[in-house]
Amino acid sequence: MMDVVSDPVRVLAIPGSLRAGSFNARLLAAAIAFAPRELSFETFRLDAIPPYNQDVENAGEPESVLALRRAVVASGALLIASPEYNYGVPGLLKNAIDWVSRPGGRSPLQQKPVAIMGASGGPSGTMRMQVQLRVTLQALDMYAMPRPEIVLSHAADKFDAEGRLIDEKTREHVEKFMAAFAAWIHRFR
Ligand code: FNR
Repeated sequence: MMDVVSDPVRVLAIPGSLRAGSFNARLLAAAIAFAPRELSFETFRLDAIPPYNQDVENAGEPESVLALRRAVVASGALLIASPEYNYGVPGLLKNAIDWVSRPGGRSPLQQKPVAIMGASGGPSGTMRMQVQLRVTLQALDMYAMPRPEIVLSHAADKFDAEGRLIDEKTREHVEKFMAAFAAWIHRFR
């Protein structure tokens, strides 16, 4: 049984989609709602993060990137919910990771536990994106939870018109996933 800790671990939750009706943002909201109380969450949207440019970095990081960097530093773990775009990681998510990966070898992402999940409109449920994202997280020496996985296919059938996750099996699985994630984070503390 897990120890009860007085201060919750702060988890930085990042949706990989900016769409207002994003299934991934909705999945993230459901995961946060189902999470054990020993985790607290801040959700960070990536709208304001500019394209990575090393000249800009050298001149001084833009405020939006600094805000993301500060949020990473203040967090004990990351939770990423992302679509798959053309069999891969959406550019905006990879771009944001690239910014915070700097300086090479001294990124605040290093040695952070992280869990990834994804929802797609089609049958494959972001499987390819997740495999690719894991490789990038490996480059950063992040501790990606291996299992369980959340690979949510046919997402349109799993949410109601208000964006609530209504599929009972998925709800149960998300709750188990978040309990496993809390235990995963606990291993590194
Ligand atoms: C997609 N979509 C998609 N789905 C998938 O399963 N594999 C894929 O490779 C792609 N590729 C892709 C590229 C682009 C540019 C878009 C806009 C969409 C469909 C995708 O699963 C669907 O649009 C989801 O609803 C996107 O996630 P959000 O925005 O709902 O979180």
